[in-house]
Amino acid sequence: MGKYVIAGNWKMNKTPAEATALINEIKPLVADATCDVVVGVPFVDLPAALEAVKGSKIGVAAQNCHWEKSGAYTGEISAPMLKEMGVGYVILGHSERRTYFGDTDVTVQKRMRAALDNGLTVILCVGEYLEQREQGVTAEVVASQTKIALGGVAKEELANVIIAYEPVWAIGTGRTATAEQANEVCAQIRAVIAGLYDADAAKAVTIQYGGSMNAGNAAELLAQSDVDGGLIGGASLKAVDFAVIVNAAK
Ligand code: 13P
Repeated sequence: MGKYVIAGNWKMNKTPAEATALINEIKPLVADATCDVVVGVPFVDLPAALEAVKGSKIGVAAQNCHWEKSGAYTGEISAPMLKEMGVGYVILGHSERRTYFGDTDVTVQKRMRAALDNGLTVILCVGEYLEQREQGVTAEVVASQTKIALGGVAKEELANVIIAYEPVWAIGTGRTATAEQANEVCAQIRAVIAGLYDADAAKAVTIQYGGSMNAGNAAELLAQSDVDGGLIGGASLKAVDFAVIVNAAK
């Protein structure tokens, strides 16, 4: 459906020196990738990562951005700051930001606006908690997260939006969604895009799966009709495993 994108979300891992080393290890292993490859690194690693990816097609993502350009927001980083550095992507609405740092659908929408206004490509994370899946409201939860985050986003801007379906119960737990579960929800998200925009927009948008994706299960997940890539946590910190996932995205 959409263009395949494999993105690593390093979360709060790797110092700048370690980031350089890991990217240098990844680079030759993904040189023949037919999909887009992105590494999402901690803010302080961004200069090192941007330097290390030179000469490769690997893109660099930040893991969040604030919605204001500047101001009294101690500890925050704005979209224009990322843009000026040459950062291409930003992960927004990750469940860890929602759970531990108070991100809501509304703040995600505001961050989305700031990111798109500054030419960043957004990896928007949506996904249900285990209780929500058990109560049978997964489709409603991801639909509502997707709709609110995309509020005010024009159809042309969707070219700079990737959606990552990450069931919270599958993140860092080793408990992957089955390929069928992943595909079902990715298809539901695609239907939401069709409803908000149109069928062409739905077909073109990249929808990733994330949550314990690894070298062993990536091929099956990526072979699903509505799964256009992956957002990978733990396995993206191991060059060989990450490369296996990248090379499975054909
Ligand atoms: P894991 O691959 O470690 O489960 O993390 C997934 C994730 O949260 C990526 O954003």
